[in-house]
Amino acid sequence: MAIIETRSLTKTFGKIQAVCGIDLDIEKGEIFGLLGPNGAGKTTTIGMLCTIVRPTSGSGTIAGFDIAKQPTQVRRKVGIVFQDPTLDTILTGRENLQLHARLYGLPPVLRKQWIDEMLELVDLTKRADDLTRTYSGGMKRRLELARGLLHRPAVLFLDEPTLGLDPQTRARTWEYIRKMARKEETTVVLTTHYMEEAQQMCDRIGIIDTGRIIALDTPENMIDSMGGDIVALRAPSPPLDIIRLLPYVSGVKTTDGLFEITMKSAHLHLAEILSLIPDVASVEMRKPTLNDVFIKLTGRDIRQDAVENGEGWVETVARYRQRGK
Ligand SMILES: Nc1ncnc2c1ncn2[C@@H]1O[C@H](COP(=O)(O)OP(=O)(O)OP(=O)(O)O)[C@@H](O)[C@H]1O
Ligand SMILES: [Mg+2]
Repeated sequence: MAIIETRSLTKTFGKIQAVCGIDLDIEKGEIFGLLGPNGAGKTTTIGMLCTIVRPTSGSGTIAGFDIAKQPTQVRRKVGIVFQDPTLDTILTGRENLQLHARLYGLPPVLRKQWIDEMLELVDLTKRADDLTRTYSGGMKRRLELARGLLHRPAVLFLDEPTLGLDPQTRARTWEYIRKMARKEETTVVLTTHYMEEAQQMCDRIGIIDTGRIIALDTPENMIDSMGGDIVALRAPSPPLDIIRLLPYVSGVKTTDGLFEITMKSAHLHLAEILSLIPDVASVEMRKPTLNDVFIKLTGRDIRQDAVENGEGWVETVARYRQRGK
């Protein structure tokens, strides 16, 4: 039996269908990523699995316990790091963990040892007795990770664990997540907008759009399904009809004057392609990404969505922070 199972899991808020009939089977020890644009239903799905949000219909179990009928048992099995920060900043790092240990009823004889171990794991031993108010964004996130794992949950939910962090801190945070997951064979379910990171970190990925899982596979298989490498070029009038007929070409797409040709072993065929196209202004060869998979399935760009809502990353982050208050 999978450690997380959902069947037709659904949540509606009035007229809004936030999550529409999701079926998931996530195995013990997996790092599973939910990837999708703003408003796709990622936080709502996690909310239902942690018993914070009540499903409208459908069902789900965590380690065999029903999320609707056995919320207390489910809560003991899960750890959560929310999208919005929830540390108590008038406490020190260690005090935050002590509070959590008491809330979860950890046996007093184990508390100190487990807290010390967690602080060590996220490299905060030296700063443990400073107020968390004085921590950097990355340190706060690490402390939240330590807190989410302190009671040794079977499943750790991470909602946008690296949102708003600089790339270096993001990379380090992912390192900790992986280390922690492997150490205790913890199952990790995370959401993220950062596709490159999802690609590197996750054993499997579910791409979610308007409340539905539209693709579910390993990142490698998803990328293989794109049919090869992408050659992106700019030229005034490439003979696309001829290019489409080449046996190694699996697709041609045009966006804003950029021609993207998908082909097997692009390095072997690039010269021939270029010989067919007059006045090439620029050419780039790359491997497909999960964003290409998303575009292929929906015709939209995950990153574009935030921009179309009139938001850049700064505004998006600000909105997330605001929503937590
Ligand atoms: N408490 C609520 N009341 C009403 N609508 C809600 C509520 N929570 C979520 N929604 C709506 O449900 C949909 C899914 O929201 P959700 O927060 O799950 O998306 P998300 O994928 O986590 O998005 P983001 O990437 O912006 O975090 C959105 O349309 C949202 O406005
Ligand atoms: Mg969310």
